[in-house]
This record gives sequence, C-alpha cells and structure tokens, in this order.
Amino acid sequence: MTTDPASDWTGPNSLVPPAPVVSVRGLTHRFGSGCDRCIALTGEAAGTNRCSACGAVVAVYDASFDVGPHEVLGVVGESGSGKTTLLRCLHLDITPDAGSISVAGQPIERSAVVMVHQNALAAGLYPRLAAESNVAERLLGRGARHFGKVHTRAAELLTELGLHPERHTDALMTFSGGMQQRVQLARALVDPPQVLLLDEPTTGLDPSVQADLLDVVQRVTEALGSASIVVSHDLAAVRVLASRIVVLHHGRIVEEGICEQVLEDPQHPYTQLLVSSRLT
Ligand SMILES: Nc1ncnc2c1ncn2[C@@H]1O[C@H](COP(=O)(O)OP(=O)(O)O)[C@@H](O)[C@H]1O
Ligand SMILES: [Mg+2]
Ligand SMILES: [Zn+2]
Repeated sequence: MTTDPASDWTGPNSLVPPAPVVSVRGLTHRFGSGCDRCIALTGEAAGTNRCSACGAVVAVYDASFDVGPHEVLGVVGESGSGKTTLLRCLHLDITPDAGSISVAGQPIERSAVVMVHQNALAAGLYPRLAAESNVAERLLGRGARHFGKVHTRAAELLTELGLHPERHTDALMTFSGGMQQRVQLARALVDPPQVLLLDEPTTGLDPSVQADLLDVVQRVTEALGSASIVVSHDLAAVRVLASRIVVLHHGRIVEEGICEQVLEDPQHPYTQLLVSSRLT
C-alpha cells in the first residue's frame, strides 16, 4: 500500500479525468459510393469535402474525441462542415463507413442517445398534441405504464423549463419557436439519456429568445450526468454551453481544446478565421 497521494488515481480530487461516457474513434462518413482517391482529394489541402474524381462528399473523416460525464462538448464549423452528419452517426440515423462509437465502454445503442433538433416540429414532435402529452409520450414509449404519474412528471419538467402550467395542455403548434424548443428539451430529459445531442438548438430564434433558451440549456446540461454534445455555427452559443470544443472544417477536426482557450487563442488558421468573423 503506497502513501503517495499522486498515486490515488481514482480519488475525488484526482486530476485524472473520469472515464468518458462517449468515445468516438476514427469516425468517417461519406455520401456517395466513393473511390480510392476521395480522402486524398478532400480536406484542408484540397479546400473541399467533395471528391473531384467521383463526386462523393466526405462529410466526416477520421473524427476522434471523448466526452465525459457532466461534460458539454461543442462542435463548431461553418455550414456544410459535417456537424449534423457527425451527430446523425452518433444518433445511429446513419451508419458510418468507418470508426467506432462507444458509450460507457460498450458499442453505442439507440436507447442511450437523444437528439434535440433545431426545430421541434421537424424533430418528430406532434403539433396537434398538448405540450404535456408530447413529453409524456416519450415516457410511455419507453415502457412507463402509470398514466397519472407520467403526466405529473411531464408537467413538473415543463414548469421547470419555463412553461406556465396554464399552457401545458395547449397544442404544441400554438407555441412560439422558443417555447417549442423547451418542450423538445423536456421530452428529451424526461428520461435522461446517457448521451444528449443538440443540433443548433437555438438557431433561427429571436436573439432575446435565444439567450433565454441558452440559459435553460445550460442549466439542464450542467445538472445532467449525461455527456452532451452541442453543435452550432454560433460560437457565442457554444461558448456559453461547452467546456471543450472541436472545430470541424471540410469534415476534418482541425482543432480541439478547452473552449475558452480555443476561442481566445485559436491556433489553426481556419479557427482564427471563424473566430474573427463571428465574434467581432
Ligand atoms: N443526405 C446527404 N446526401 C448527400 N450529401 C449530404 C447529405 N447530407 C449532408 N450532405 C453533405 O455533407 C456535408 C456535411 O453536411 P452537414 O453534416 O449537414 O453539415 P453541417 O451540419 O455542418 O452544416 C455537406 O457538404 C452536405 O452537403
Ligand atoms: Mg447542420
Ligand atoms: Zn472519390
């Protein structure tokens, strides 16, 4: 038995990070059948993600990262850089061509992951159903059988996320975009997933609504033990939410690190461009 405190790797004050919830290694996805020159003809040097030989799009190439419990990873990059494709692979909507995704050391399963989309109605919520029913439906869909308890839980969560109880039974389509996003978040969190994916959760809303919603997202991601990944082209939003970020360009991760460090002192020319054009 050693008395060297530095050897206490698992103690609560250990500087060693906790085991990751999500581990992504070498994730690659190409749209189109592709050829053997796709990788060489795309990426940073080529200045495109489209293979000039065969026309396939290398949407994500060789992406690797970990996300720990309680951690929010930001994924930034301009439109078309591969952010949504990356999330769709993690959500098992599309099968990557290569690479692995594990959750708590096991191959990822659909039930471990929930995605919050940019638009609640496009996300498969039910426009004519009450806000509360949209939330309760997810619990019922996951095997909950006590109808009363399910609705009570849904109502509590909606109130927590800022929806006045008077409106819980109004149809989803009667709500503003920002309020619909709160319903979508409540639906995602009513049975907290191991992995929460957020694809441009505040994009397209009025700036004041965005700020309010960001507060809510920040609160819930901080409280969750889940690993969260938030994708956005909006650096200011990512800055609020994420502790670490990865920067995607033409499907490649060109830079990664502590959020503040990367945004204050970007090393890669593309990140420098992104930061100077979006944050000034
Ligand atoms: N279903 C698809 N078929 C063909 N190309 C696609 C498809 N979805 C996305 N792409 C292409 O893949 C690249 C990455 O897209 P996407 O992941 O949506 O980027 P982002 O979310 O960063 O805007 C883009 O060049 C886009 O045109
Ligand atoms: Mg996208
Ligand atoms: Zn090709």
